[in-house]
Order: sequence, then structure tokens, then C-alpha cells
Amino acid sequence: MREMTIPVVRQRPIVGTLQAMFGDRLTMLKQLGGQISDIGSTRLGPRNIVLLNTSELAQELLVEQHDAFHKGPGLSTFGRPVLGNGLLTSEDELHRHQRKLVAPAFAHRRVASYADTMAEYSEQAQRHWADGATVDVAKEMMRLTLGIVGKTLFDADVLGDADEVGKAITIVMRYTTSQVRRPIHIPLAWNTPGNRKMRGAVAALNSIIYRMIEQRRASGEDKGDLLSMLLLAQDEDDGSYMSDKQVRDEAMTLFLAGHETTANATAWTWYLLSQHPDAYAKMQAEVDGVLQGRTPSLPDLPNLPYTMKALKESMRLYPPAYAIGRQAMRDVRIGGHLIAKGTIVLVSPYLMQRKPEYFAQPERFMPERWSAEMEKALPRYAWMPFGGGPRICIGNQFAMMEGQLILATIAQRVSFTLVPRQRIATDPLITLRPKYGIKMQVQRCGGQ
Ligand code: HEM
Repeated sequence: MREMTIPVVRQRPIVGTLQAMFGDRLTMLKQLGGQISDIGSTRLGPRNIVLLNTSELAQELLVEQHDAFHKGPGLSTFGRPVLGNGLLTSEDELHRHQRKLVAPAFAHRRVASYADTMAEYSEQAQRHWADGATVDVAKEMMRLTLGIVGKTLFDADVLGDADEVGKAITIVMRYTTSQVRRPIHIPLAWNTPGNRKMRGAVAALNSIIYRMIEQRRASGEDKGDLLSMLLLAQDEDDGSYMSDKQVRDEAMTLFLAGHETTANATAWTWYLLSQHPDAYAKMQAEVDGVLQGRTPSLPDLPNLPYTMKALKESMRLYPPAYAIGRQAMRDVRIGGHLIAKGTIVLVSPYLMQRKPEYFAQPERFMPERWSAEMEKALPRYAWMPFGGGPRICIGNQFAMMEGQLILATIAQRVSFTLVPRQRIATDPLITLRPKYGIKMQVQRCGGQ
């Protein structure tokens, strides 16, 4: 087969390095995406990276050639102090073993059983918002999704921990993102102010996770949820239980991955709806018509298609996982291009999902574009907020159901209006957060 060379985008020596160290990761991705067609490589600080920018190439990376790759250094190296060797970061045999073990908590029927908790927590959240009050929906969604993941997967009440968790995650994400860019790494054990802050954040998260584990151990109960599954799982061959450290790593991974992303997805959806009054009115009319004041439950979901379309469309424009990274473990060919062992390869749902080849008027928020015909005609992996292949998000059904229930429950009770003269910007850390939050004024609907 003829080997094709990967076009190289050259950086200006000093400017390129400074940008890689201090610049905004999304801006860099956009610049690179704008300079290449389907594939391109560049130097980002100390590293050579290759960006793949078509749905076919994404499929080759994540599905067909997945076994030639491990996770990129962001998560696998620098995410380790907090995630340990849990599902997001583990590789090969351990990953396959752990994924199989955790899978029952995400089986279709199991996820369906979480619907009432999701809707009930959404009801509780909105009751705190007075008519005329200003709320930061980014913060509120974070608190809500944290409560939901705590209750559904761990049967624990963690709402009281929301502020502490929120602060700790911000520190962890800033630390991790900054480490990826550094040419020289300072071990976490060294006593720098940044390291002390990071160690404090990890300790705060650990104490919440260990508290949940200890409470469950002490009760000795099998609640049939994820936490019991982790604690009671026995190795098929030797009957051994998971080590405390492995239980902690899996629990921490699901606790964090299970709420941060959904919080961002729903927060961005409220923002987009507030900027598109027609779409917002259409969604509210759908919700009011179907629910007639009731709290939504599982059977309502197929009758709320516009709400689902709004969520899909917002995750197209603001995919919480805006970049997915891998590192080649051996020389491998992708789309006829040789990718040398050690190369970092990225696909960006953010860039992919804004390509005019896949989505007409890609910058516009148009929930109605998600017709059945359009979805059928869309190439696989052109919309890829959950990644793909064996490492596809294990929580994708959980997240879509949760998002739809949160939107429907809250849209029925309140209307949000964006508070004027505030800065709305993306903060591309590990996930795509709203940098300064999203402040909304609350208007309670129909005197509720
Ligand atoms: C809108 C919400 C969500 C988005 C956009 C999202 C996105 C992603 C993406 C892109 C990956 C793949 C990363 C890669 O290939 O490197 C992933 C993996 C993962 N996600 Fe999600 N996720 C969401 C919600 C959730 C939820 C609700 C949970 C759990 C309750 C969860 C748990 C996980 C786990 C454990 C993995 C690792 C799976 C593995 O490697 O086997 N995610 N997620």
C-alpha cells in the first residue's frame, strides 16, 4: 500500500511553545483544524501530535485500530493521582476485566430504574429557585448531577459535599491540564504551592469516596447498586475480592466521570435555549403538553423528542469531552498514514461536529435538524460526544436519559433568562466548562 505523508503544520518556535504551555487548548485545536484538511500533525510544546478530522479516521482510531493505542498522557499519566487505575485510565486486560464487572450497573434495565431518582432530584433542585432570583446554572447543574450520581450508583447523599467536590475538581482539572503542557514535570510529592493544592484536592475527594465505601462495608448490606457490585465482586478464577485501592479507583472514576460531563451538557443546553427563544418555547410547549404538571418518568421520554433533540444539538456544539486523546503503542497505519509509536493522536468531537460536510450551517443551534432521516444519513462518528469502540462512554445511556429528564423537569417549572452583560466563555480543561459560569434569572412558570 502506498504510504501517505501526514501534512505538518509548523509552529513559530517560541510563540508555538508559549502557546502550547499557556494557551487555550480549544483555540489551538481550532487553529490546527483550520489549517489541515483530514489529518495533520504539529508540535505542541514538548510533543508531536496528530489530529484526525474525519468520521472515518475517528472510527479507525477508536474502533478498528483501538488495540494499537492507549489513552493519551493527559488522563493516563496526569489524571492518575485522582483517578488511579479506574475504568477511564486502565488499559488492556485490567480494563476489559473491570469494564465487564461494572457493566451491569449500566445495563439498559438498570439505567431505566434510575429515572425516578433523576426526576425527583431535578424537582428538588428547582424548588430552591425563587421567582426573580439569579442562579448560576453551571453550578446548579453540577450540584444536581452530583446528587444524582451519588444516589443512583452509591445510594449516598452527597448534596452537602457539592461545594467541596466542585472546588476540588476545578483544582484537579487545572493541575492535569497544565501538566500535559509542561516540558519538565515536577513530581506531585514535591512541596510546591501548586502541588500542595492538588494534594489537598485529592485528599478531599478521597475522604468522600472512602466515607461511602466505609459506610457500606459497615452496614454489610448488598444494595445491588454499583458500590455493592464493586465491593462484592469476586474474581472468577481465584475468588479474590478487589483490593481497597481498586474499589476506590473505580468508585472515584464513576463519581467524577458520572457528573461533571452531564452537568456541562445541561448547563450549555440552558444557555443555548436562552439564546434561541423559539426553540426554548417549543421545548416548553412539548414538556407542558406531555407532562401536564406531573414529574416526568420513564414512559414519558419517547414523548419528549424535541427535548432530546435540544440536548443532542447542544452536545454537538459544546461536547463536554471536546478532545479525545490516544498514544500509539506501536507503529500503526491510519487511513494509509504511518503513525509512529509514541505519537499522540487526537480526535475532537468539537471540530468534527462543526464540520459543514456533516452538519449544514454547523454553527447554528437547530434542534430540529435531528430528524430520523438526518440521523440515518449521518456518517457514524460524525456526532461522537461519547467517543467510540471498546472505550466508548459506559454512561452514555445514563447521561442521555438524565439530561432529558433534567431538562423536562426543570423546563416545566421555571424559565431562564440570561442575565445581561456577563461574559460567557468556554474553559477547555479536561471537559468543556463555562469559564465564568452562566447566570440566569429565574421566572417561575404559571405561579408554581
Ligand atoms: C454528557 C455526558 C457524558 C459525556 C459527554 C461523556 C463522554 C465520554 C467520552 C468521550 C468517553 C471516552 C473517552 C475516551 O475514549 O478516551 C467517556 C468514557 C467514560 N465515561 Fe462518560 N461521558 C458522559 C457521561 C458519563 C456518565 C453519566 C458516566 C457514569 C455514570 C460516565 C462514565 C464514563 C466512564 C467510566 C468512562 C470510561 C469507559 C472506559 O474506558 O471503559 N460518563 N465518556
